[in-house]
Amino acid sequence: MSAFGLDVGTSGVKGLALDAEGNVLAAAEAGYPLSTPRPGWAEQDPEDWWRAAEAVLAQLRASAGTPQGIGLSGQMHGLVVLDAHDRVLRPAIIWNDQRTGAECREIEATLGLERLTGLTGNRALTSFTAPKLLWLRHHEPDVYARIARIALPKDYVRLRLCGEHATDVADASGTLLLDVAERRWSEEMLDALAFEREWLPRVLESPQVSGVTAEGVPVAAGAGDQAAGALGVGVDRPGPVSVVLGTSGVVFAALERYAADQQVRVQTFCHAIPGTWHAMGVMLSAAGSLRWLQAILGADYDVLTAEASAWAPTTEGLTFLPYLAGERTPHDDPDARGSYTGLSLRHDRGALVRALLEGVAFGLRDSLDLICELGGVGGAPTHGRVSGGGARSEEWLRIVASVLELPLERVAVEDAAAFGAALLGGVAGGVWPDVPTAVAATVRPREPIEPVPDWVEPYRAGRERFRALYPALRACR
Ligand code: XUL
Repeated sequence: MSAFGLDVGTSGVKGLALDAEGNVLAAAEAGYPLSTPRPGWAEQDPEDWWRAAEAVLAQLRASAGTPQGIGLSGQMHGLVVLDAHDRVLRPAIIWNDQRTGAECREIEATLGLERLTGLTGNRALTSFTAPKLLWLRHHEPDVYARIARIALPKDYVRLRLCGEHATDVADASGTLLLDVAERRWSEEMLDALAFEREWLPRVLESPQVSGVTAEGVPVAAGAGDQAAGALGVGVDRPGPVSVVLGTSGVVFAALERYAADQQVRVQTFCHAIPGTWHAMGVMLSAAGSLRWLQAILGADYDVLTAEASAWAPTTEGLTFLPYLAGERTPHDDPDARGSYTGLSLRHDRGALVRALLEGVAFGLRDSLDLICELGGVGGAPTHGRVSGGGARSEEWLRIVASVLELPLERVAVEDAAAFGAALLGGVAGGVWPDVPTAVAATVRPREPIEPVPDWVEPYRAGRERFRALYPALRACR
């Protein structure tokens, strides 16, 4: 009895085969490139996703046999445009592409912010799919005229895997075309932006069967990587929050009921459990910031984080703003930029690293505070469940725990989004009766990493400085 999960990520496809207790029977990975044809642009070839998914599925099958169900998860928001024969019309414009500032302003002006947030629960962010579609109408009218269908990244893989045009409510929430409260496409949004209803796939709840493979294996609708990843770390209900230290950094809380931020600084999306929602704040460069610095410094992560731990918290006043690729939460500013301030002659390589780890933690705390202000979270979160490449560093987790003032737990299996996808695939295939049962049967938390008591006060002061810097530096642009 097994379930496969595939996560169509930004750097590659990761796949896991799980048994009914959540043990990993097989794991596989295949990578692909990202192209940045102009500053701020980010594109990928959907064929690369499919080739990688096929390779990963073949490896999983070779080790674990035919599964009972397959679940899909993936990078959210990306726009794939297809012609009437399901042929890809141009490279996909993906989530971290920042070209759509003008289109976001246009959408907000067309609808008015109040109506937009009333219809979708969110504001227009450069990552989202609808602004990308509008950009194509303005800048590539020939391509736009040939659109017959649109798809999100993992849903293109589904199309190739089982010939179905389908998506799920969690991933569809990031298009700005879903009525998130009602869990259906928003006719009002489609009318207001003059997009065709026929372009959109069927929208299903995450564990529903969306189609079957050529061998007859059911494929679950699945979920965007954040909702799938939250299931993978056991965040299927209010209580713990999911904290992701991936390329992007995320704080994610399951909601007791639909609740949108009045000032729309955090996103409210459908969760992958039917009838539930979640709120999240997204930083665009978390572990991505560390990867940037590591590439410049040219030393191993372990060496760098060991040097960082030689510095006391707040790094003698050195503060890093992690806005290397603009920022989503809380600033919604594609033109925001990173900075180091407070450098002195004493600061060395380890100091640069420590201030960076702290700056990312402060950014996560901004998201946590906004989420806690929302109604519907069900009180203060009790602890965090961490995932993403950055969660491998104990030192970074101690810093994040001390800044968030929450214990953080890792779980037994690292690839949270692929794990969550496998749970959805397993529910679709009958391995588990429903998502909460699947989570309870499989997710195993490890020892918590507690806040360091002596660091909490200095980090409260450091946060004040961090928060003052963005408006001050914006005034100098
Ligand atoms: C979520 C988001 C990112 C991408 C990257 O809103 O933009 O997490 O899904 O994988």
